[in-house]
Amino acid sequence: METVMAQLTGEGDQSKFADAADILLNGGLVAFPTETVYGLGADATNEEAVRDIYRAKGRPSDNPLIVHIGTAGELERYAEDVPETAKKCAEAFWPGPLTLIVTAKPGVFAPSVTAGLDTVGLRMPDHPAALGLLRASGLPVAAPSANTSGKPSPTHAEHVAADMGGKIPYILDGGATGIGIESTVLDLTSRPPAILRPGAVTADMLRPVIGEVNHSAEAADAGENAPRSPGMKYTHYSPEAPVWMIGPDAGRIINAVSQLHSEGKKVALVAPEGFGASGADWYFPTGRLNDPVSVSAELYASLRACDGTDADIVLAVTVDDDGIGGAVMNRLNKAAGGRRYPG
Ligand code: TXA
Ligand code: MG
Repeated sequence: METVMAQLTGEGDQSKFADAADILLNGGLVAFPTETVYGLGADATNEEAVRDIYRAKGRPSDNPLIVHIGTAGELERYAEDVPETAKKCAEAFWPGPLTLIVTAKPGVFAPSVTAGLDTVGLRMPDHPAALGLLRASGLPVAAPSANTSGKPSPTHAEHVAADMGGKIPYILDGGATGIGIESTVLDLTSRPPAILRPGAVTADMLRPVIGEVNHSAEAADAGENAPRSPGMKYTHYSPEAPVWMIGPDAGRIINAVSQLHSEGKKVALVAPEGFGASGADWYFPTGRLNDPVSVSAELYASLRACDGTDADIVLAVTVDDDGIGGAVMNRLNKAAGGRRYPG
């Protein structure tokens, strides 16, 4: 299949949204940018189309998809007995990087969207292209991140093309996404509500709006039997070479690189600006140390860039875990399988 890359320029974008919407309405897949990462979209009411998403990604079928909506009012249309907490969150954070898990209206979504659960994740993205597509199609759009399952999520259209080229007909190219890591997933069906996946909307931001909030992302990470967010149990965000985390300490990084070199290993370093003199064979500058937002924006591109090298090991520098730094560390921990150098 030929994959069309439609570059968005601000002018004439409506006709590209219309072309993409046509594909969705005819059961095809379209990749599109959001403020977090690129999504791989299908009509959430079309079972065949949704199955094609799982096929294109190689995604396990027990991992449900987020449904994207173009207006906050659709919450009422797709959720059963919308809880007060959902209304408050939508009011405060939509459009934005927050996915709300609510009870799904029965019989609306294709069964594969929810992977057999009676809940659904709903999110109104904050990106003109995502909203343009949603409004042009009038559909609820099921969209996971547009990467091959297990790989870092795509933050540039080129990442999507690398994973999905030849498999999908259309990519809306909106350049780099802003936030760079996936939305916060908040389960509003549990009491108190629980963060299943940390993201740019943090517990500290949610508490003033809905009161007490639990973190169950850590529990899921620790490998509990039935993680609440099925996706959290799978390996994620990993380049081909094994990733090890290391603290932001220039001396320690230099020592680690020379130790690894003495073992005959080639090293790629994913680190904030300023760590270039480590002696690593490849260095992918990733934001600025005291600015976790800049690190989150560039992390996945750097992890992906490691696959273009023949590094034997990736050293990835950690960030402080306040604000979005907590979500960055969640992803780094997963990419590294929890490993810290030297172990
Ligand atoms: O930022 C994002 O959320 C991006 C963009 C494209 O919107 N999407 C994204 O989707 O990251 P995906 O499929 O890669 O991640 C969805 C996560 C998974 O961890 C999944 O298990 C969880 O949300 N999830 C979806 N529906 C759920 C449900 N009903 N209950 C619990 N977890 C759910
Ligand atoms: Mg994903």
